Amino acid sequence: LFIFRTSYVYHFFHGAKISVFSKHFPFGNLPFLKYLSSYQTFNMEKFFCLIAAFLLFTGCSGKNKPIKSPANEKVTMQEQYRPQIHFTPLSGWMNDPNGMVYHDGEYHLFYQHNPFGKQWGNMSWGHAISTDLMHWKHQPVALSPDSLGYIFSGSAVVDRNNTSGLGVDGQSPLVAFFTYHNMDIEKNGGANMQTQGLAFSNDKGRTWIKYDGNPVIENPGIRDFRDPKVFRHEKSGQWIMLLAAGQVIQFWVSPNCLDWTYLSEFGKDAGNHDGVWECPDLFPLRVRNTGENKWVLIVNVNPGGPAGGSAAQYFVGGFDGKKFTSDQKMPQWVDYGKDNYAGVTWSNTPDNRRIFLGWMNNWQYAGKEPTLTWSGAATFPRELGLVKDSSTYLLTSTPVNEINAIRGKTFHTKQLTIEETLSISDSLPFRVSPLEIKLIFDNSNTNREESNSEKYGICLKNRKGEYISVGYNRMEKFFYIDRTNATGATFSDKFAGIHNMPCEPKEPTVDWHLIIDECSLEFFAAGYRVVMTDVFYPSEPFDTIELFARNGAVKLVDACLTELISVWNQPQE
Ligand code: FRU
Repeated sequence: LFIFRTSYVYHFFHGAKISVFSKHFPFGNLPFLKYLSSYQTFNMEKFFCLIAAFLLFTGCSGKNKPIKSPANEKVTMQEQYRPQIHFTPLSGWMNDPNGMVYHDGEYHLFYQHNPFGKQWGNMSWGHAISTDLMHWKHQPVALSPDSLGYIFSGSAVVDRNNTSGLGVDGQSPLVAFFTYHNMDIEKNGGANMQTQGLAFSNDKGRTWIKYDGNPVIENPGIRDFRDPKVFRHEKSGQWIMLLAAGQVIQFWVSPNCLDWTYLSEFGKDAGNHDGVWECPDLFPLRVRNTGENKWVLIVNVNPGGPAGGSAAQYFVGGFDGKKFTSDQKMPQWVDYGKDNYAGVTWSNTPDNRRIFLGWMNNWQYAGKEPTLTWSGAATFPRELGLVKDSSTYLLTSTPVNEINAIRGKTFHTKQLTIEETLSISDSLPFRVSPLEIKLIFDNSNTNREESNSEKYGICLKNRKGEYISVGYNRMEKFFYIDRTNATGATFSDKFAGIHNMPCEPKEPTVDWHLIIDECSLEFFAAGYRVVMTDVFYPSEPFDTIELFARNGAVKLVDACLTELISVWNQPQE
């Protein structure tokens, strides 16, 4: 049942016009299953059929059962590839982070979730809470599908002055906005399957009530019409909603979160249009080196990314409460790796911090990776900043300071000259994962040009010859991650490859910052302007770290390696 439901929608929705069901499942034409598939027209007979089919499937394969008991939880958080310092669902599928909001000392993370299997489907909002962005407590599913459809991506706000009237006892309610995706309409070939819905909570996000006036925005006949991002525009005292509509971003306005009026659109002639626009975000940031205030618009696009498949582009410009105008037409990318999609930022964070979280995956192969009980992880939370570089505004992404809470032992070395390779893992008094690595390389040209290596960098490997390396190509001036041989069995022909980010650092020394977990590498460099995220699935864990220089030498000015402590060693609620 779930194979059928999920693969149909997923493939239709993401453009591949095949039914995986009929391809991989031998009983695709059974009238029984076709009958079951009309899920939204709910009646008792179908309900019992659904329950029976569900029990049959989950009974046959224990994999589809949500894992609940503490004993299982401990095991599942230690299984092969399970990230130790990144958020993952306890079990089942995760894609986009949703509804991220800070309230009363707690960071809420909701996410696109299938609680019943590790494939896309049955889209709900999973939920987790953290007080420090590092240690997460899994919560019950916050929003499940209903007669209006699946619960797709969206955002959440604190309605401080109770403009919605949904707060009780003088409280400020939490209000969540999401897209309803109606399966029946999609199957019948209709274009208006996506509408915008709302839910609210008066108990610090523990339980959610769907608004009985849903949908709050009807579909105007646009096939891709989704992922509402709502924020309070203080100057005009109004709520603004961004919606991804085909290949533009629409702006809507509301006095009360409930009644919405269309304002404007952005993007027809700007940015990358190789794919569908999804999951937008808009926020102000102060430019670090000029003191100007600018607005940053993030627009995720799939496909069209610089490394292939899904990626997040951004624009820097102005927003007057009605319209966004960009200073540039060409897209810039939040991340040049292949695994940072659907990223957006928390609302209501203290001290005006802009904290970003992405989904560490790519629609080109999501769901095919060899993880056991779960699929999809969040990136490490990153604090966004803006700098002006000549005439261009650049977004910077820095791992949040809260990383301090999980730092363990440290190993320090300096002033090494690297020719060919130099192993540094032998001297480490701790495992190579999870690990934070900070390096400073001398990137200046010495007088003796020929002694400068063509490339230099760092490589993680295992004894099977599998590896992932991060390097800088001095001749062609780009950073790269090479994961041509970073998995055991091949699970997608789109996975292996080398991903590049053009950059010519101006300073003679260049800072590198890497965060390594069981199956991910996040790379930041050159004042956090260089950002690359890639995942990997070696047949055995990487246990060796080497520094390398090819055709010449490079000087390592400083190296600091810090053990990171698993965030899953604490009891869950
Ligand atoms: C992005 C996305 C969103 C949509 C959600 C569905 O990855 O396609 O546009 O709301 O995933 O799960």
